[in-house]
Amino acid sequence: MVTVESLGHVCFTIADDKYKVIIDPFLNGNPQATTTPDKIKVDGILATHGHSDHLGDSIEISKLTGAVVVAPYELAMYCKRYGAKVHPMHIGGSWNFDFGWVKLVQTFHGSAIVSDDAIEYVGAACGFLVTMSGKTIYHAGDTCLFSDMKLIGDRHPIDVALIPIGDNFTMGIDDAVEATRFLHPKMVIPMHYDTNEYIKADPKEFARKVKGLAKCVTLKPAKKLEIP
Ligand code: NI
Ligand code: MN
Repeated sequence: MVTVESLGHVCFTIADDKYKVIIDPFLNGNPQATTTPDKIKVDGILATHGHSDHLGDSIEISKLTGAVVVAPYELAMYCKRYGAKVHPMHIGGSWNFDFGWVKLVQTFHGSAIVSDDAIEYVGAACGFLVTMSGKTIYHAGDTCLFSDMKLIGDRHPIDVALIPIGDNFTMGIDDAVEATRFLHPKMVIPMHYDTNEYIKADPKEFARKVKGLAKCVTLKPAKKLEIP
């Protein structure tokens, strides 16, 4: 049985009977978070880009658990500099880990570590395809709608797609509906909304508009979905 659990905003864990990975572990500072990095036990950490609401506590969780941070090369090297165990990859590349298969796919977004007095760019942002125990999950990361989502969905049948709907920094609801049409997953879970004042969105509106394209599941933080 493969399960997807929301930890708030864009942070999800994917687990099968043996392994668990966490994607974009933004816990410290996440108003939706219901847990803390020291409680996370995972075999892999997947980070889509350097923005604090995605890279989050990746480095700390790697140090605590020994789990590898899987990220685009430049971001992986940044994590290594601060003591994380890393596996650098880049867009289009895939790898078979003990926990499952991972492929980095494109997004249209920035990737930088932003602090009070500096901005350090860390390459391109990515999305992830993850296959564990025969189920494929797509985490879109932060992105606009792009027509090559059709290519992603056609080449890799998706069981669950995690799609941003919050607008302003990423696609909004109407573009997320079109993204679902392109990706044609069995199930879609909206993410990246209601975390701050810029990204207010109504998941019920998305659920209504996406009807007929995929089964829409709104996953509240700390709630789990079992993939049939
Ligand atoms: Ni971002
Ligand atoms: Mn974001």
